[in-house]
Amino acid sequence: MINLSKMQKSTENVRRSASIISTGAYLPSRVLTNADLEKMVDTSDEWILSRTGIRERRIAAEDEFTSDMGARAAQQALELGGIDPQSIDLIIVATCTADTVFPSTACYIQNKIGAIRAAAFDVQAACSGFLYALVTAEQFISSGVYKTIMVVGAEKLSSIVNWQDRNTCVLFGDGAGAVILQHRPGSRGLLAFDLGADGAQTSILSVPASGCRIPMTPEILDQRLQFLQMAGKEVFKYAVNAMNRSAEECLEKAGVKPEQVRWFIPHQANQRIVDAVAQRMNVGLEHFVINLERYGNTSAACMPIALHETSVAGKLDRGDLVLMVSFGGGLTWASTVLEW
Ligand code: ACO
Repeated sequence: MINLSKMQKSTENVRRSASIISTGAYLPSRVLTNADLEKMVDTSDEWILSRTGIRERRIAAEDEFTSDMGARAAQQALELGGIDPQSIDLIIVATCTADTVFPSTACYIQNKIGAIRAAAFDVQAACSGFLYALVTAEQFISSGVYKTIMVVGAEKLSSIVNWQDRNTCVLFGDGAGAVILQHRPGSRGLLAFDLGADGAQTSILSVPASGCRIPMTPEILDQRLQFLQMAGKEVFKYAVNAMNRSAEECLEKAGVKPEQVRWFIPHQANQRIVDAVAQRMNVGLEHFVINLERYGNTSAACMPIALHETSVAGKLDRGDLVLMVSFGGGLTWASTVLEW
């Protein structure tokens, strides 16, 4: 049990920084290429590549769930960080494709990785979910309440994609990433964040049925309302503006200039969105981490997968500044600037 009043006295005015001390990722083995999609819907490799930049995506096995992928990523983060699962105080999972309405996917993952001491809950902010979860975790570390937190972004989007809808099915993929946060003495960790939402835009990107709003009936299933729907053009325009504004506000809060940032990690939805954000920020694409060509949009898993791949490729040194910026259903957006 945690005595908050005692803790408040001992930590008054002393916010502990929260650093990412380890990462992990997991991608299912099945690759679905644009050529494969040509056999499923009226599309072409040329259209998908030129409009989105995506060449292929990973698809989870039928009996492989969001929690399985999340647990694999979490396991790798534990191994790489040399962390005992029993030292994890809290698990936060960002996902919009939870294993079940409840229990939370975080509870399934807690059991799978043996983090028996950890509290566990899910965060739902669609593609911005991982950064929402990261910022939430940071609050627990900064206040001194918890020492070690696992943040997972995991998605089985193939389970909510309408495989008859060429407008959306070419965009998404499955996967998971995880990070472990702790206070690392001498490191500034998360420097600033910007979180936002516009609930007036719920209709342009949603899964209409399966919640209490439209309960599942045979008629609803026939209408395929249990699958993701998107007004692509509207979402595109909103994404560019929101990501740009959020990234700039976050940099300003952090007191960091774009040229001081080593890596920009944008949401991996569409190469053209990344190009537009880079252009508006006047930052060369060589400073952007981009893997959407291989995985498509994995929603809340995009950020931790990209971060992990950058880290294990040896492209991150202690002290490097990283800006992550995301955007998703809600509509929601989020940015963080952190010192590696
Ligand atoms: N193959 C071939 N043709 C296609 C396909 C396809 N896969 N998809 C659409 N088309 C057609 C359309 O039917 C349309 O044909 P028409 O002119 O005869 O009507 C034409 O291509 C142009 O369609 P647009 O929608 O205008 O294409 P656009 O250039 O806007 O690109 C896209 C569509 C890729 C979806 C783009 O709008 C986009 O990336 N939007 C943002 C997506 C995004 O960021 N989503 C975030 C999701 S995050 C989350 O929270 C889950």
